[in-house]
Amino acid sequence: MKVTVVGAGNVGATVANVLAQKNFASEVVLVDIKESVAEGKAMDIMQTAHLLNFDTTVTGVTAKIGDEEGYAPTAGSDVVVVTSGMPRKPGMSREDLIGVNQKIVKSVVDQALKYSPDAIFIIISNPMDAMTFLTLKDSKLPRNRVIGQGGMLDSSRFRYFLSKALQKAGYPATPTDIDGMVIGGHSDKTMVPLTSVATYRGIPVKQLLTDEQLTEAVESTKVGGATLTKLLGTSAWYAPGAAAAAMVEAIALDAKKLIPCCVYLDGEYGEKDLCIGVPVLLGKDGVEKIVEYKLDGDEKAKFDESVQAARNTNAKLNVL
Ligand code: LAC
Repeated sequence: MKVTVVGAGNVGATVANVLAQKNFASEVVLVDIKESVAEGKAMDIMQTAHLLNFDTTVTGVTAKIGDEEGYAPTAGSDVVVVTSGMPRKPGMSREDLIGVNQKIVKSVVDQALKYSPDAIFIIISNPMDAMTFLTLKDSKLPRNRVIGQGGMLDSSRFRYFLSKALQKAGYPATPTDIDGMVIGGHSDKTMVPLTSVATYRGIPVKQLLTDEQLTEAVESTKVGGATLTKLLGTSAWYAPGAAAAAMVEAIALDAKKLIPCCVYLDGEYGEKDLCIGVPVLLGKDGVEKIVEYKLDGDEKAKFDESVQAARNTNAKLNVL
């Protein structure tokens, strides 16, 4: 398994670092446009190999926008993770980044695809749902090979906030005690944390938390990224990076794990011609199945709203 991670900023470097520590990939190539940054971060990660006991080789390479040969070291990658572009600053929405990031994402996907024509692409750059749609349309790859990372991260944040709510309600829950899923767009306003199927060791959380406590967990999840952006002055990286690494792992190990991912819908959930978060099975072929199930009335209405918002953002793509 060879993985390319484009963008050696906070998120990209975290993806490479977590992948190295998971120790299933033979090779991880980190690429950045800034001179020597990817090389430096890769070297730093490799100097933890002995300490953390992994055999994955992480290398770094500088490749400017449009420098095709710069991508030669990425050749033959099985998975390409795209983190390139601007992160948001406090007060910005992810959608505010569309103007600058669409050109960057298009360019790096074109460059990476030339050297890794069989790769599965995982898109993290924001606004992620639109960047996934752009990648799919521009590359003309089959939809199983273009996957956006959002639901995995948002679901992990949902589990965290539900564990906090349960603790307040007198249950000593940790995030690993919780099962929960977030679908819809990776957006502050319209992501859809599914309270109907969230459980604490199998017990529906709806039976343990008041409506107020549940609403607080849902609202905190929706603005989870914005809250961290405010605290950090830039967007988060540990959880976004770990979420992408978990998706790479499901693909590498052909785990066929049920993970909410941003994928192209062609009739599923009653929608067509957009990329948005729904539960899928991730395995060696990327998206191996879109899992459809009946959303409850309120969740269906919220999902429809999310779809509309994603379509509105897609309409702002001008490099297609
Ligand atoms: C977040 C960014 C990475 O949610 O989208 O933290």
